[in-house]
Amino acid sequence: MKYKKKILCIGAGYVGGPTMAVIADNCPQYKVTVSDINKEKIKMWNSDVLPIYEPGLLEVVKRARGRNLFFSTEIDKNIIDADIIFVSVNTPTKTFGEGAGKTADLQYWEKTARNILKVSKSNKIIIEKSTLPVRTAAAMERILNSKNNSIHFEVISNPEFLAEGTAISDLENPDRVLIGSKETKEGLQARDEIVEIYANWIPREKILTSNIWSSELSKLVVNAFLAQRISSINSISALCEKTEADITEVSKAVGTDSRVGSKFLNPSVGFGGSCFKKDILNLVYICENYGLYEVAEFWENVVKINDFQQNRFVVNMIKSMFNTISDKKIVLLGFAFKANTGDTRESPAISISKKLIEEQANIVISDPKAIDNAKIDLKDFADKILYIEDPYEACVDAHAICIITEWDLYKDLDYEKIYKKMVKPSFIFDGRNILDHKKLFKIGYNVYPIGKTALTHFK
Ligand code: NAD
Ligand code: UGA
Repeated sequence: MKYKKKILCIGAGYVGGPTMAVIADNCPQYKVTVSDINKEKIKMWNSDVLPIYEPGLLEVVKRARGRNLFFSTEIDKNIIDADIIFVSVNTPTKTFGEGAGKTADLQYWEKTARNILKVSKSNKIIIEKSTLPVRTAAAMERILNSKNNSIHFEVISNPEFLAEGTAISDLENPDRVLIGSKETKEGLQARDEIVEIYANWIPREKILTSNIWSSELSKLVVNAFLAQRISSINSISALCEKTEADITEVSKAVGTDSRVGSKFLNPSVGFGGSCFKKDILNLVYICENYGLYEVAEFWENVVKINDFQQNRFVVNMIKSMFNTISDKKIVLLGFAFKANTGDTRESPAISISKKLIEEQANIVISDPKAIDNAKIDLKDFADKILYIEDPYEACVDAHAICIITEWDLYKDLDYEKIYKKMVKPSFIFDGRNILDHKKLFKIGYNVYPIGKTALTHFK
């Protein structure tokens, strides 16, 4: 079959896999290949057991796979063939050397760029799909153009805004797509080529174009703003618990102001996920580099409040359970960083589990999709944790239940049945405020929501 253009995506993870599946599904005239160094992952992308859990993803993959969507480990061959290369490799926080703990580790990006340079035989558009520090494109161009040959690489920024658990609907119907380019003739031409791809299913007015630095920076800033809202409401949840104000009522009153808006004001055990913390710390590092220390400090506090919220959850448990949880059985319902994903990267469940273990509690972890990842995250504590997927079985003989992830399944459990098999007095700590607290109290539980007065049977 003759394709209009050949697209390659390097990096078949949470972003590369779903974004390319949706592009291929909507653009049958383009050949879309996804490559990764991880052979096992590619094998799974070619099977019916995909390497990530994402509602609706398998259906999209099945529609396009073998038609114009391909998953392959032959990276070099695919680079040679491609007209357009999306790079969607991981950009974690650097753990060593200069900027450790803050700046992005760009080694995977740079290796990919050098490989593209090494094997390419024709002009290509290289797209930054990964989230990168502002001005990374300049460094990339320097690498890509270091060979002094006649091949032209045009770097475009096209950051991804999908959220896990809703990736397919976010990609099908995004708030906007952002495409940044240099404002040169070649830059604008390349930008138009990428606009043309998205215009196959996204209304033109939702396709924003900008200069390349605005595009790179906007991605970091959106995540910083979103995380800032969560830290704002979480900080107020602590004050609610001291004052008998109710965070749900406060959140509603604040969010109905159309200038504030109602989304992302749900209090929680803290935000998790692979990006919020990483991207804010990256922003902090960039600001410090430019000598903008006050700006850096402002954003760093968003992360500090998030750590405070996770820590506070455990401290509250200890205080409520008579100042000791040693040898008590505590069940974590949910381990994923949010519902509808098996992803546990930076999940508050990790730090909460570690703190509970430090306090010598006996912990049981339950989750419908994330137990395999939880076992990896907590491999150093394997002998101190039980993993039981069935929540009813997990809660037998428990002193306390903690809701960590807002899975729908936990809203509808038979808490009366669970209560009968728990040690008394029984405690529930609802880290997501998803349960009917009054009903639980009537059953006999001592109930501790986030940002609301606890309902207890103690005099
Ligand atoms: P991921 O870890 O799930 O996937 C990255 C993939 O890149 C891995 O499969 C890895 O094996 C592969 N890889 C690394 N080096 C490679 C190389 N040299 N050649 C080929 N493959 C290579 O990461 P992700 O969650 O998909 O995130 C990717 C980027 O997208 C990050 O910059 C992240 O900040 C950004 N992002 C992520 C999300 C999200 O929801 N996860 C959303 C928006 C943006
Ligand atoms: C987030 C952004 O929403 C995406 O736009 C972005 O593309 C992505 O990061 C990224 O760059 O990786 P994601 O982390 O997948 O997406 O999920 P979110 O829905 O943003 O949730 C992040 C965390 O915040 C979760 O732990 C969630 O439970 C928590 N959260 C969210 C709250 O505690 N309260 C809220 O009101 C909303």
